[in-house]
Amino acid sequence: QAQLLGAKGKRFAKKRYAEKAQMKKTLKMHDESSSRQKVDDDVEEGAIPSYLLDRDPTQRAKVLSNTIKQKRKEKAGKWDVPLPKVRPVAEEEMFKVLRTGKRKTKQWKRMVTKATFVGPGFTRKPPKYERFIRPTGLRFTKAHVTHPELKCTFNLDIISVKKNPNGPMYTSLGVMTRGTIIEVNVSELGLVTPAGKVVWGKYAQVTNNPENDGCINAVLLV
Ligand SMILES: *[C@@H]1O[C@H](CO)[C@@H](O)[C@H](O)[C@H]1NC(C)=O
Repeated sequence: QAQLLGAKGKRFAKKRYAEKAQMKKTLKMHDESSSRQKVDDDVEEGAIPSYLLDRDPTQRAKVLSNTIKQKRKEKAGKWDVPLPKVRPVAEEEMFKVLRTGKRKTKQWKRMVTKATFVGPGFTRKPPKYERFIRPTGLRFTKAHVTHPELKCTFNLDIISVKKNPNGPMYTSLGVMTRGTIIEVNVSELGLVTPAGKVVWGKYAQVTNNPENDGCINAVLLV
């Protein structure tokens, strides 16, 4: 998330503060209504004044807690992805040990066996320093991205690998396995922000095993 600076940041903080205060109030109201209910229980039925008869503390507490739950759910659901869980990929499966050279004991070179993304203008490091080799046959620059609402698929350029669920090392290597979040260039879709700017980068989640299929299928996160 971008950092908000200056006046914008102040406005954001103010809004956030108001939201938090409201949340606290609601929670307090919720507590009060449940404690009041206890007192009400002690009083005999006939003793309740007529103007209180249509009050239903239990109902009210439930409604309040439901709104809180709803709000929490909304917050929690904000970052949901189509594939929340994926099978973890072991290191032995991800890398193949390269046995070359005269040294037999220390085998430190690894070949990545999964699909990868390397940025444009990438050059390999000199062999002495190259620990991970990403074969060109498994490098991808395009992905078939499906828009979940339009139900259309587009062949879009990959901009970067945002997150690999198996760990930050794979993210930085640009390894794309099932469930990986990638950033794609959606400029040809013609999406615009509420402010009227054209959107370029959007995130998508890989839904297939690219190393088996020879292509990358992904779902756009909207
Ligand atoms: C996205 O694609 C458009 C048109 O194909 C191109 O002009 C633009 O530079 C691309 N953006 C990125 C970030 O790659």
